[in-house]
Amino acid sequence: MIIARTADEVAATVSGPIAFVPTMGALHEGHASLIRRAAASGNAVVVSDFVNPTQFGPGEDFERYPRDLAHDAAIAEAAGADVLYAPAVDEVYPDGFATTVDPGPLATELCGARRPGHFAGVATVVTRLYGLIGPTQAIFGRKDYQQFVLMQQVARDLALGVEVVGAPTVREPDGLALSSRNRYLSPSERRTAAEVPAALRRLARAYAAGERTEPLLLQAAATEGLELEYLALRATDLSAYQPAAPAVALIACHVGGTRLIDNIELDPAAPDAAATLLDAKDPA
Ligand code: PAF
Repeated sequence: MIIARTADEVAATVSGPIAFVPTMGALHEGHASLIRRAAASGNAVVVSDFVNPTQFGPGEDFERYPRDLAHDAAIAEAAGADVLYAPAVDEVYPDGFATTVDPGPLATELCGARRPGHFAGVATVVTRLYGLIGPTQAIFGRKDYQQFVLMQQVARDLALGVEVVGAPTVREPDGLALSSRNRYLSPSERRTAAEVPAALRRLARAYAAGERTEPLLLQAAATEGLELEYLALRATDLSAYQPAAPAVALIACHVGGTRLIDNIELDPAAPDAAATLLDAKDPA
């Protein structure tokens, strides 16, 4: 694996179709699973490592976001990356850069309601990285479910010629979804954070038991232990929940100063699947 600082270095290193894994670094086993998925495609694997300033709002964690290129390189290489692309800010946003990709109304809902401009920042940097690297496939984690849906929409709407693939969430033994931000949690906050998958687990169990009513499913997940930003049930394209259609339950909350998000997909054709997945991570 090589570490490239410029798109020209990437182009000089890889040939043929590229599977791309966009990241902001702070790589963990969740990212490794995305990289392994990309490698399984048989394409050259390029992983970007760029903490994108335009997707952080005022007062968010841009400054303290973990940056450790040597750590990221070790994980990316072990998972099968060919190139770790770690550009400088002025390679991604050169002088005169003025375009914003606005992913439309869905970008103002759920996470976007509390993080104005966040998804425009994500869509802009991802589209720019596509332009710099030229992938045929991009792998996103389904843990950031709204991001995944929006990046599918952007690729489709702008005919970018990139197949957007969503890869499953990787979880800790107690069910907590892996996230670069988990490292901000103190030991007691980490214990509180286990309530996030626990809430989804209760909802998934209610769904497996046949409950399809939106308020009752949300009630099953109700939690007093978390400072909730939202708990929502939507169709898998994030339009309004339809009881008979595949759905997704999404949660965002704050534990101490750390914002956590998670979700679980619900399928009426396999109603036990979500509960089975989370029950396997139930320490109780
Ligand atoms: O999910 C992330 O890490 C970021 O939002 C992404 C897709 C790398 C864009 O900066």
